[in-house]
Amino acid sequence: MNFIESLNKRYASKQMSGKKVSPDKVETILEAIRLAPTSMGLQPFKVIIIEDQEIKDRIFEKSAKGQPQIPKSSHLLVFAGYKRITPELLDEYVENIKITRPTLPLAKVTAYRQMMSALTLQTEEDNFIWSSHQVYIALGFALAAAAVENVDSVPIAGFTPPALDELLGLEKRNLGSVCLMAIGVRDEATDYNATLPKVRKSKADLFEYI
Ligand SMILES: Cc1cc2nc3c(=O)[nH]c(=O)nc-3n(C[C@H](O)[C@H](O)[C@H](O)COP(=O)(O)O)c2cc1C
Repeated sequence: MNFIESLNKRYASKQMSGKKVSPDKVETILEAIRLAPTSMGLQPFKVIIIEDQEIKDRIFEKSAKGQPQIPKSSHLLVFAGYKRITPELLDEYVENIKITRPTLPLAKVTAYRQMMSALTLQTEEDNFIWSSHQVYIALGFALAAAAVENVDSVPIAGFTPPALDELLGLEKRNLGSVCLMAIGVRDEATDYNATLPKVRKSKADLFEYI
């Protein structure tokens, strides 16, 4: 199956069965997240992977009552963005650059660090909006990877972030939940979205050539 065929086949699963997705497929999806591009390469987010049934149930009850996929997922991914871009986050990144690219002249790395430091002067609100944008790119990569791996999935924005943040203790870690992704195995009998045709704009509507 080519990439477009995989994207046509994927859909937002509405009912999952509780069956498990194999670890190698989960790893591939996580690696796609890790390899997703981000602005300046900073990757200003964490992805929390939840398999524990009790935690998934609690997330469903306390912060995402309308999303029955969560308790029946194999893995629930919580994409959490950094609320504030701190000097420490920049330092960690710069250290990683130095280790990964040891031949890079130090002056260049220092100048790059200086350029990025503008982020630390922005408001927390602006920092979090920026982090959230980066999260969504990673979410897109994860959804595409799940499609290629033939793993059922659903992106979820229909939840209450403050409730989830409290449950997972994210606030005190300078993190805020942005979106979720449930991966699992569809419930063949009840997942009505599995067989519905895709609703998409036509190419003529979506694309403008100038
Ligand atoms: C950012 C985002 C948030 C979404 N939130 C939810 C959600 O909370 N619950 C849900 O069942 N589907 C959710 N969806 C799924 C969309 O409704 C679905 O992707 C869209 O209708 C296109 O259909 P398809 O993915 O089946 O092709 C979300 C999708 C995206 C991209």
